[in-house]
Amino acid sequence: MSVLSSKEFPRFYGRRIGRKLSKSGILALKAGSKYILQYDKFSEDFLNFNKKKVLEIGFGDGKNLINSAKQNPETLYLGADPFLNTTIKCIKQILENNINNIKIWPDDIRKILDLFPSKSISEVKLLFPDPWPKLKHQNRRLIQINFINSIYKILKTNGTVTVGTDHKILKSWILEKFQANKKFEWLVEISKDWQNRPEDCFLTKYEEKAVNEKRIPSWFVFKKK
Ligand SMILES: C[S@@+](CC[C@H](N)C(=O)[O-])C[C@H]1O[C@@H](n2cnc3c(N)ncnc32)[C@H](O)[C@@H]1O
Repeated sequence: MSVLSSKEFPRFYGRRIGRKLSKSGILALKAGSKYILQYDKFSEDFLNFNKKKVLEIGFGDGKNLINSAKQNPETLYLGADPFLNTTIKCIKQILENNINNIKIWPDDIRKILDLFPSKSISEVKLLFPDPWPKLKHQNRRLIQINFINSIYKILKTNGTVTVGTDHKILKSWILEKFQANKKFEWLVEISKDWQNRPEDCFLTKYEEKAVNEKRIPSWFVFKKK
């Protein structure tokens, strides 16, 4: 698995591996290797495809990624997530469903953001990012000013970033950070715009968990001006 050492990246605080990988998981990783993006072959593996490109950051077990790819076979999806146990679950489903329009970066998205040419991505999805609720951990949150600036660069004009969260503190944080960047416009007219999951997103494990535990998700869509 590609881990870069030559350059400094923000530290990743989440988990890479939880439970020991099962034999079937390791086999799935091998069988699905053609879906895994190689850092040195970023153009060949992803950029050179002349298709609309959507980036999902932190896809978890892949519910949204898989359903989106099935619904839009002409779009190329890149999913990034460093947590291998759920990445394996996602790869198993890609194999089972014989999906050909997904690529997986099984690592921290921040390690490859510099590889994207400017204006190369149509949409970015960030569904239920880790909230890091404690004040002393707020620098661990993925959504930071620099991160938003990097996303801005790679998005096409009028491209969108969709963020879903059920976490109270993170809701304000997301709005504050995106609104600090005047080159993004928050697409909101009526309360339903942030209360309802956008039509192009699917129910994920974390949304389901939130709803079961009586936490209400909010949805934010920001457009690059
Ligand atoms: C709370 S889970 C949500 C998973 C999924 N989106 C869902 O809604 O069920 C957050 C996910 O973001 C991933 N993640 C955290 N930091 C990341 C980063 N820097 N790059 C890519 N993924 C990241 C975690 O590994 C985890 O799988």
